Amino acid sequence: MHSEILAGAVGATLVAIVLLSFLRVIFSPLRAIPGPTAARFNNLWYLWRVWRGHFELDNIKLHERHGEIVRYGPNRYSISCPTALKTIYGHGTKFAKSDWYKTWSNPHPSQWAIFSDQNIKRHSENRRQYQSAYSMSSLVNYEGYVDECADLFSHRLEEIAKAGLYANMGHWFQCYAFDVIGLITYSKRLGFLDAGDDISGVIAALEDHLKYATLVGIYSCLHPYVFAVRNWLAGSSGTGRAYVMKFTQERIAEHQRDETKAVLVDDSKEQGPAVEFLTKFFSKNAQDPKAFTMYHLIMGCVSNMVAGSDTTAISLSAMLYFLLKNPQTFEALRQEIDAKKREGMLSQRVTFKESQRMPYLQAVMKEALRMHPATGLPLERVVPPGGVMICGRFFPEGSIVGTNSWVAHRDVSIFGADANEFKPERWLIDDKQQMVLMERNWMPFGLGSRTCLGRHISFLEMSKLIPMLVRDFDFELDWKLQTQAWETKNYWFVKPGDFRIKISVRSF
Ligand code: HEM
Repeated sequence: MHSEILAGAVGATLVAIVLLSFLRVIFSPLRAIPGPTAARFNNLWYLWRVWRGHFELDNIKLHERHGEIVRYGPNRYSISCPTALKTIYGHGTKFAKSDWYKTWSNPHPSQWAIFSDQNIKRHSENRRQYQSAYSMSSLVNYEGYVDECADLFSHRLEEIAKAGLYANMGHWFQCYAFDVIGLITYSKRLGFLDAGDDISGVIAALEDHLKYATLVGIYSCLHPYVFAVRNWLAGSSGTGRAYVMKFTQERIAEHQRDETKAVLVDDSKEQGPAVEFLTKFFSKNAQDPKAFTMYHLIMGCVSNMVAGSDTTAISLSAMLYFLLKNPQTFEALRQEIDAKKREGMLSQRVTFKESQRMPYLQAVMKEALRMHPATGLPLERVVPPGGVMICGRFFPEGSIVGTNSWVAHRDVSIFGADANEFKPERWLIDDKQQMVLMERNWMPFGLGSRTCLGRHISFLEMSKLIPMLVRDFDFELDWKLQTQAWETKNYWFVKPGDFRIKISVRSF
């Protein structure tokens, strides 16, 4: 009897869900927006496509087929229309991040994270607290840390070259980026480059967190439950994000025990060499513990780890990959570097300043970030009260809209008929209007008030490493990569799979 009642209740609930989704489709003011039929009824189509790991390509195809505005869920709309970028992401707009971002922080509402915070006011207050540590003028503090890791990276490549082995450069760039971010954040190298391995499983834990946050974020109402169960199942070390949090807390405790670290610095001023985030954050906390709490300190470190390592490693991989797939660009960059060396304008440890005087290098980095932006899903935002016009269509309050940088970067109306080709030269033309147009639609670091805080740091890391690699080493792609495109998986970050390369030390 009981089981019959239960079966009846489940059946009635399912019928109600199906009926409701039909009614929502019929009465939606946005029902005319095209897209896959399955995506009209629920978010399962989006979940399935993201799960397959190539949504950046799916998203491009959707726009090729359906035009500027495409549906990819019952209330999710992907926009490929240059005028929309300012409306959605421009400074001062009131488009909060969507619920998809919820899974990037602890489910408790007070436990914000700078990247995922949906509260616009709180986010802008917190962002102001962090900004100076990431500013252009702070870079001088971090350059020595990057040099230390670049030296070790070069040493590792020499060893691999001598052994005549192939290297998975995606892995080595990850080791480099993790060690740099560890040094910049904690003034302690985490040891990835030393071991050539994933220390304490941090890389694996972050990968696990990425997959979880990306997929569960599509049904974020499940986050509080799945998060709790996953952590319980993972035991004392926790899993994914919890693991990274614990790892960070251990580094903080180490730092507190170290008496030589008790120096206060004023991070609003340009410092002398080498002051890491943790000392800056402790100083901010000591100066005003109510405005910059210990929670700010911990979250600042965690967000560096989560947001700052994979992204930089992917971008470095993309730079080397596109240079090697287009040998004439590799040669052009090498010529620029060699010329600087001959002129005595290139140190053994390439400085950030020197790298900025190399226009072709700058164009290569920009173009690789255009061809392969590290994030590969629409940057979802919620339409604020009152609704908004986007690309000539009215979107009511609560609609989720967003642009995927992969879609924006392949827009032929902006980047031309050769938008799918790697051509650094497009950034070196003498056409101011076209340059402004491309700059406005170049968004590997996001846009507006939520633009990447760490973008200058990532440029510091890339600008020093790429010229050193091209100057000192020769590379040969593995036979498979010579004939085919590399394989990638998109769980928010579009990570390359096996990026196998043969390395030799360049003979002069
Ligand atoms: C090439 C490397 C990088 C790329 C491509 C990249 C990309 C991005 C993107 C696309 C966003 C905005 C996402 C959105 O709107 O949803 C973002 C935000 C962020 N990134 Fe990066 N990132 C990189 C490196 C870094 C580094 C090195 C750090 C830290 C040291 C960092 C810290 C952050 C933080 C804290 C945010 C959140 C900002 C906010 O919401 O106010 N990123 N990044």
